[in-house]
Amino acid sequence: MSKVTVVGAGNVGATCANVLVTTGVADEVVLIDIKEGLSEGKAMDIMQTANILNINTRLTGVTNDYEKTAGSDVVVITSGIPRKPGMTREELIGVNAGIVKSVTDSVLKYSPNAVIVCVSNPMDTMTYLIHKTSGLPKNRIIGMGGALDSARFKFYLSQALNANPNEIEGIVIGGHGDTTMIPLTRYAAYRGIPASTLLEADTLAKVAADTMVGGATLTGLLGTSAWYAPGAAAAQVAAAVIHDQKKLIPCSALLEGEYGESDICIGVPCILGKGGIEKIVEFDLNDEEKALFKKSADAVRNTNAALA
Ligand code: NAI
Ligand code: 2OP
Repeated sequence: MSKVTVVGAGNVGATCANVLVTTGVADEVVLIDIKEGLSEGKAMDIMQTANILNINTRLTGVTNDYEKTAGSDVVVITSGIPRKPGMTREELIGVNAGIVKSVTDSVLKYSPNAVIVCVSNPMDTMTYLIHKTSGLPKNRIIGMGGALDSARFKFYLSQALNANPNEIEGIVIGGHGDTTMIPLTRYAAYRGIPASTLLEADTLAKVAADTMVGGATLTGLLGTSAWYAPGAAAAQVAAAVIHDQKKLIPCSALLEGEYGESDICIGVPCILGKGGIEKIVEFDLNDEEKALFKKSADAVRNTNAALA
């Protein structure tokens, strides 16, 4: 029996629950929100697709009833307020810190062995907050940002190459912020062929720049932050844990010396499996990438300081 709880039945949470059930990731999914009726309604709507889409997962929506989340293997936290046009992720910190802290306490009361996937923004700082306040071992706290940013990087690469997105490799490390993420263009590839040999340098630079403002571009278009790719990326991370996939997915992890940083949660390539973050993959960055990573870590640390 595998069970996933998704906290927050808004745009990202409901999309994540929908992807989890349509792809059959877990036997049971619980969607929970504070807004009366919202989770129940979203769950009912999704479950009415069950016989259309051959869904075999049981999805339940509840309002504030954490007992129903008991025994979850993975808990995805999406509760909080999203970005509005012109807002940075960092501006969400005050409100979302209170929400993330209380939600984490509530879920751990009923699912003490769960792996926590943090989505709420500013995601690196919220992930760090969970580390500082929950007492969980570091492997059981995963920040979902790099999975999404890497998906966006591969999307923009596929567009520039006029290629199938499934045939693209690309990872984004660093903070989940417009100026802090680092799309690693040097390692981007199309079926193993370095993208740098297929695209002009300025085209590749534009792909990286578009990736970095990928979230802001969608916020501008939609009037609120995006949800399809964020929800799917959160479900991808949950699936890697539930199915012990050992997949390399960039995520925000607590660093203890890796990449020269400590006491910070920031995006790095992680192997995800049943234990959560089972390994942080370290590889050599060149001097330019090292400098960008250091700058990114400084910016994330600066945001973390607002938690005090
Ligand atoms: P939304 O406003 O659609 O949904 C948020 C939901 O959280 C609402 O339904 C609200 O009632 C609920 N909520 C608030 N306080 C709660 C509490 N204490 N307990 C349970 N539920 C509570 O927002 P959306 O678009 O779903 O975004 C959610 C969060 O995810 C935001 O902080 C957003 O910035 C972040 N985000 C992060 C991404 C990432 O890559 N890490 C990507 C996209 C969004
Ligand atoms: C996103 O990247 C705003 O974090 C949110 O879409």
